[in-house]
Amino acid sequence: MSKSVDLTALVAAARAAREQAHAPYSHFAVGAAVVDENGRIHAGCNVENAAYPQGWCAETSALAAMVSAGGRRVLAVAVCGVAADPVTPCGGCRQRLREFAADDCPVWVVDEDSVRASFTLGQLLPHSFGPHHLPP
Ligand code: THU
Repeated sequence: MSKSVDLTALVAAARAAREQAHAPYSHFAVGAAVVDENGRIHAGCNVENAAYPQGWCAETSALAAMVSAGGRRVLAVAVCGVAADPVTPCGGCRQRLREFAADDCPVWVVDEDSVRASFTLGQLLPHSFGPHHLPP
């Protein structure tokens, strides 16, 4: 992980974003935060919808915040959820992260109190399809 990544701040941002989750249907609040190429942290929460499939994940919110702020690379990710098993990004969000992150990008999986697990994006999404597959 890049020395410029402040893991404490990244995890705090994911935890704080989780507090804002709109999850009245699943009651499963998730927060996520990403560090961009300029060291800025962008965070987001899951946003559910009464038309269930229209909801989206915390990681997607965090990426949208990053892109909206001009960020284009993800150097590190934190996801905060509370469950018996560590709350790792869903398959779709792994692919969304892949758009902006390298295989060695760390993904910190945390809950309210502790770091539950850590992975690289390449571990979570091996042999991934990415921008490099497409012609310039
Ligand atoms: N969710 C996330 O926001 N991120 C994940 O990594 C896993 C799942 C959300 C989607 C939905 O609002 C709720 O958690 C239950 O699946």
